[in-house]
Amino acid sequence: MTEKMVSPDLPAELKAALDAKLEGLSRHDVAVRAAAISKTYRDGGTSSAIRSDTDALAYALARMPATYAAVSACLKALLQARPDFAPERLLDVGAGPGTASWVAGEAFPSLQSFGLLDANPALRTLALELLHGSTRFAGLHYDAGDARALLEKAETADLVVASYLIGELGEAERNSLTEAMWAKTRDTLMVIEPGTPAGYARIIALRAQLIASGAHVLVPCPHERPCPLVSPDWCHFSQRLARSRAHKQVKGAEVPFEDERFSYVVLTREPVADHPSRVLAQPAVGKAEISAKLCTQGGLALAKVARRDRQAYAEARHWRWGDAVVGKS
Ligand SMILES: C[S@@+](CC[C@H](N)C(=O)[O-])C[C@H]1O[C@@H](n2cnc3c(N)ncnc32)[C@H](O)[C@@H]1O
Repeated sequence: MTEKMVSPDLPAELKAALDAKLEGLSRHDVAVRAAAISKTYRDGGTSSAIRSDTDALAYALARMPATYAAVSACLKALLQARPDFAPERLLDVGAGPGTASWVAGEAFPSLQSFGLLDANPALRTLALELLHGSTRFAGLHYDAGDARALLEKAETADLVVASYLIGELGEAERNSLTEAMWAKTRDTLMVIEPGTPAGYARIIALRAQLIASGAHVLVPCPHERPCPLVSPDWCHFSQRLARSRAHKQVKGAEVPFEDERFSYVVLTREPVADHPSRVLAQPAVGKAEISAKLCTQGGLALAKVARRDRQAYAEARHWRWGDAVVGKS
C-alpha cells in the first residue's frame, strides 16, 4: 500500500472526466443547482432532489471530492489494520456517482468485480459515464433500484461499502438494509456517514446491531463494547482535501481546501487480534508535553507524553486525529 493509493484527492482521470462534463455548461447554473442541493441536505432532505444530468454533475462536483476523501481515510485505516486484505469483489451500496468504487479501485489492485446499486437514475447515468472512461472498471455492473430489493439478488462480496447512504433512510429501512448488507458481506463491511452527532448515532446503532449478529469491529474502535463517548461528545474524524478550480467555482468558495468530517465503522467476519488505541482529536503539542484524547481498550484516556521522555515524545509528535496508536491500550 503506497501513499498514492490512499490519496484523499480525486484521481487525475476522474477529475479530468468531471471537468470534461462541465465543458459547455454554464458554471453559474451548475453552482446554483449545487447550492440548492446542499440546502436540501442542510434542511434534512435527501439526494432525491437530484433529478437532471446537471443536478447530478453539480452534486458530483460539489460533494464527490469530500466523500472521496472520507472514504479514502477510512480505507487507509482499514489497510493499516489489515495490510494483507485483498478483496476481489466490491459491492457499493447507494453508490451515487460511484465515489466509493473509485477509491476502492485505487486502493485495492486485487479488485476485479465492482457491483454498484442505487435508486437515483441521474446519478447512475453520470457514474457510468465517468467509470466507463476508465479501463480499471471493466468488471462493473450498476443496478438501478431500491438497495434493499437489489441486495436480495446480489452476489456476496468481499468488501461491502455504504458511503453517505444510511442517513437517507428511515430507521426501520436502515435496520433492514443493515442486515441485508451484512448478509452479503463475505469479509468486511465499511459504513461511512457525515461526522455530525446524527451521523455518529447512526454508525453506533449499526455497529451495535451487527455486533449482536456476530460481527467484529476492525476500526476505528479498539474494542467491541458500547462507545464510551457521552453526548454532547461524539466520535468523528476529519480529512483535509484540496479544492480544484471547478470545485471552488461550483461551491462559490475561495479557500483552496476543505475539511470533511465523517464518522465510520469497519466490521469483519473474523475476530480481530490486535486493537490499537485511536486518537480522537488533534493532539495538543505543548512545550512540556503532548496530550492526546484516546479511545483505548480500557475506555477513554487522556495520554500525556512528557518532553523529557524523548523517544515517546518524538513518536507522539507524529500522532494525528484518527491515527491508530500502538502501546497505549
Ligand atoms: C449522499 S449520496 C452518496 C453517494 C455515494 N455513496 C458517495 O459517497 O458519494 C446517497 C446515495 O444513496 C442513494 N440511495 C438513497 N436511498 C436509497 C435506496 N433506498 N436504495 C438505493 N439507493 C439509495 C441515493 O440515490 C444517493 O445516490
